[in-house]
Amino acid sequence: MTAANRLLEPERLPKTLWDSEKKILRLPDALAQAYETLIDRYSLRELAQSRTVGDSPVGGLDKAATDKHFAQQFDNSAARAQLAVTNSTKEVARISNAILQTLSGNMVCITDAPCGAGAAAFSLLSTIAELRAHDVLPRMPLHIRLIGAEISDFARQYAKEMLAELTPFLESQAIFVQAELLPWDVTDNLSNTDLIQNMVRAKTSISKNLLVVANFSGFLTTSGKQKDAQPQLAELFRHTSGDESVAIWIEPQMNSAVSGSGLFSTVGRWVKEWHRFVRVNTDGAVNDSFLTSEVQFWSALTPDRLRPVRLAVMRLDLVRTP
Ligand SMILES: C[S@@+](CC[C@H](N)C(=O)[O-])C[C@H]1O[C@@H](n2cnc3c(N)ncnc32)[C@H](O)[C@@H]1O
Repeated sequence: MTAANRLLEPERLPKTLWDSEKKILRLPDALAQAYETLIDRYSLRELAQSRTVGDSPVGGLDKAATDKHFAQQFDNSAARAQLAVTNSTKEVARISNAILQTLSGNMVCITDAPCGAGAAAFSLLSTIAELRAHDVLPRMPLHIRLIGAEISDFARQYAKEMLAELTPFLESQAIFVQAELLPWDVTDNLSNTDLIQNMVRAKTSISKNLLVVANFSGFLTTSGKQKDAQPQLAELFRHTSGDESVAIWIEPQMNSAVSGSGLFSTVGRWVKEWHRFVRVNTDGAVNDSFLTSEVQFWSALTPDRLRPVRLAVMRLDLVRTP
């Protein structure tokens, strides 16, 4: 990928997001502060700081599973999405381009499924706001209809409160978010119909669509739910497809996502079946169906401790073929 076709030059990233000498990411301050506020509001600091290297919680229906995931993984998930949009290492330019192009301005419908506490969508939006605040990106009015779909009531509540904390900063950079947080079970076709009906309503006057699927390999692969989820995901992708529609699928760079029997290999097979509404590599830039990148980031709650960010990411252009 040459400099000519990168929408954001990593050299222009502000120090508030990226230490280019040490190659370390830092979450946007507003996002880190919002996260800390909620961690303290729900007395989760001890749980957050008790995380060991072996812990990689994936969330779940009940409060204990949600709390562990929120307290121990939120900032890591946010850092992964930040690496995807900033392309700090120059390894994921086509992902960064698609996100920046979609979120440059006007009306956009973002569906984040499963959203958890909103780490992926809020990271993308607050990173763009930070880039706008540093005059790296133009401050065009950006009106977002955010649909967050998630099975855990507790996670949806965290997402709602995170957005309330972030709104003043986003609005100061002309990013206006109207959110609907919906109960969603990816294995249930009626629950999926409800989500799609809400998306269709949100899309009426919307010019662009971004579908974000982040960190779902733990549930889909490790819990063996790929087969049960496939019909619903097919429907979700088909309904999001159309002009100016793109999906970004973000996973941790682990075997469950990137090995020959991992999730991205399965998604690659699905995409062949979904060829009438999904295409990969339409920009002709690469042969790989997914890209990877790896850096470190300053954890929001333990700023003296660096943590690894291992990103694997797929860009799926939701282009229809007659
Ligand atoms: C690893 S988390 C990722 C959440 C979010 N995308 C992020 O990056 O932080 C996986 C999420 O899937 C949700 N989940 C578990 N089972 C689900 C199901 N059957 N349908 C939809 N979401 C589910 C969990 O509650 C959890 O929030």
